[in-house]
Amino acid sequence: MILEGHPIVPVVVVDDAAQVAGLVDALAAGGIRCAEITLRTPAAVAALRIAGAVGGFVAGAGTVLTADDVDRVVDAGARFVVSPGLDDDVVARCRHHGVDVVPGVATATEVQRALRLGLDRLKFFPAAQLGALAAIEALSGPFPGVRFLPSGGVSPENAAAYIASPSVFAVSGSWMATRAMIRDGDVATIERVSREAVALVTP
Ligand code: 3PG
Repeated sequence: MILEGHPIVPVVVVDDAAQVAGLVDALAAGGIRCAEITLRTPAAVAALRIAGAVGGFVAGAGTVLTADDVDRVVDAGARFVVSPGLDDDVVARCRHHGVDVVPGVATATEVQRALRLGLDRLKFFPAAQLGALAAIEALSGPFPGVRFLPSGGVSPENAAAYIASPSVFAVSGSWMATRAMIRDGDVATIERVSREAVALVTP
């Protein structure tokens, strides 16, 4: 799994691909060497292409909803794929390309479906609304081999508690590089908040 060793996965929305080089530099300067670039803007694929070409940085794609999306992001250099939910076609196309996929789950039924597809690294989304760490720990009872990537409402207030759980392999969220910070080119804040986030999750 390409995200091993990356305890924080920024979820970013990029409006202008010209902002992505500065974004990647700021994240890396803060100690974060990966990002999930979401397919929520027309600039996303171009942004992925730029981020994916940066040595030592692991660029992935998020909000990947269809097999065609998988083709587009893999062509642009995505090294991992994240989906908000669990879609068999997306999983199959990622397998076809040999790219790691982290689909989202919200229920025990979806965890079982993911396991049947051979996946045990799963996004838990939207984490805060689903019951946060308590919900993850409850799911870990019947599914001890599954490890989760909580996303949605992860913050400096709860990131350390999430990452301390053996059932959590990484946390993701937008707080260290918000859409506004990226749009404003506020790389100083992105670097500072990234560094603070890394300190929170480093034992
Ligand atoms: C998302 O899909 O936007 C992610 O889950 C990030 O959520 P956050 O903005 O609450 O960190």
